[in-house]
Amino acid sequence: MSSAVKTLNVGMLGCGVVGSSVARLLKEDSGDFAERSGAHLTLVKVAVRDLSIEREHVPKTLLTDDALSVVNDPTIDIVIEVMGGIEPARQLILNAIKNGKSIITANKALLALHGAELFEAADKNQVDLYYEAAVGGAIPILRPMRESIVGDHVHRVMGIVNGTTNYILTKMDEEGRAFDEVLKEAQKLGFAESDPTADIEGHDAAAKAAILAGLAFHSRVTSSDVYCEGISKISARDVAVARDMNHVIKLLAIAELTDKDQVSVRVHPTLISRQHPLASVRNAFNAVFVEAESAGELMFYGRGAGGAPTASAILGDLIAIARNKTRGGEGHGESDYADLSIAPIDDVMSRYLIRLDVADKPGVLATVAQLFASHNVSIETVRQSGRGDSAELIVATHSAPESALKKTVAALAKSDVVKSVESVLRIEGNSK
Ligand code: HSE
Repeated sequence: MSSAVKTLNVGMLGCGVVGSSVARLLKEDSGDFAERSGAHLTLVKVAVRDLSIEREHVPKTLLTDDALSVVNDPTIDIVIEVMGGIEPARQLILNAIKNGKSIITANKALLALHGAELFEAADKNQVDLYYEAAVGGAIPILRPMRESIVGDHVHRVMGIVNGTTNYILTKMDEEGRAFDEVLKEAQKLGFAESDPTADIEGHDAAAKAAILAGLAFHSRVTSSDVYCEGISKISARDVAVARDMNHVIKLLAIAELTDKDQVSVRVHPTLISRQHPLASVRNAFNAVFVEAESAGELMFYGRGAGGAPTASAILGDLIAIARNKTRGGEGHGESDYADLSIAPIDDVMSRYLIRLDVADKPGVLATVAQLFASHNVSIETVRQSGRGDSAELIVATHSAPESALKKTVAALAKSDVVKSVESVLRIEGNSK
C-alpha cells in the first residue's frame, strides 16, 4: 500500500517519442514512483502542437495546444519540457520558473545557449532545474558529476555523446564503407534524421560538451565556446589508415583543463587506440570517460537517445525533485565559482595525423620533414605507400599546438612537392 501522502501535479511540454514514453511510464509505474518519492505524481496537462494526433498513453482530456496554459496552471508543481528547440521553450520554462514550478528538461541546445539565464531564474525563484536527459540520454552522468565526484578534481572528460555519428563511424570502421553511403542507410533505418546536420557536423555533441565542461570545471561554458568539427569529411581511407595503426576514429566531445588552468572544450573526429575503453563503444551507444585526480578513470556507458532510455533519465529527475518537495529543501543549483576562462583552440595541444598526396621522387620526404621542423612540430612516425608517380605520406606528430600545426599544413599545401593535403586528424592519447 502506498505511504505517499502528497500529490504533485506534473505538466508536460511536448509529447513526441520521449514525452510519450514519459507518459506511459508515469501511468504504468505510478505505485512505485509514489513509494520512491513520497508523493503521487500525476500527469495533469500535456501541451502538443497538433491536437488531432491520437496519443496512446495520454487521455485526450489532458491535451492542450496552449503551452502557456501549462506553465501558468497554478495546480501544476513540476513541468517537464520535451518539446526541444530554443523558442518558445526558453520563454515557457522562464514563465514556469517565475510561477514557482520546478523544471525537468532534456533540451541540451537550450541549456548550452541560455543555461545561465535559466539557472539564475531557478535560483531566484527557489525551484529545481534538472536535466539529466540532456547529455547521454539514459546514462547517469550529470548527477555523478554534480554529486558523486564533486569531491574530486576532474582533469578531463571525453565523451561519445552522439549516437548518429557513432553509428556511422562504426559502420565505416567495421564494413569499410564510405560516409555518404552509410549516412543514407542510417537515414533509411531511422538512425539518422532526414536533416542530419546537427548530428554530423557536431553541433549536438558541442551542446553536450558545453554542459559537461561547465559541470566538470565549475564554470559557465556555452555552445559558442566549443570548437566544433563534424565527421562529414572523414573518408573510408582515413578510417582504413586508422585501422592499420590499430586505432579507430570517434567523434569525441573533449573538455579538459590545460596547463594554464583554462578549459579546452572541443568536438572533433579523433583517432583513439583500440585499447582505449571508448574504442569499444559501438553503433548508436554513448559513453563518457572521466579522468579525475583521486578517482582515476571512470566510464559511463549506455543508450544516448530513444524514447524509453531518455524517459528513464527524466523520471529519475522527477522522483529526485518530488523527494526534495516531500522532504523539504531544494536540490543543487549551478556551480560556477571557479569561473575559468576558455582556452583558445590555437593554444590547444594535440597529436596529429596528416595524410599527404606527394610526388614519389628524391628529396620529397626531406622537404616535407623540413616544413614540419621549421614550424617546430616534431614528427613521431612517417609511413609511405607508393602508387606509381605519386605516393601517400602518412605523418604522425608528437604533441603540438594547433597554431603550429595550422601553419605547417598551410605550408605543406603551398609546397611544390605536395599534390594535396588529404586529411588532418587529431590523435588522442600519449605517444607510444
Ligand atoms: N541526435 C542525438 C544522437 C540524440 O544522435 O545521439 C539526441 O541528442
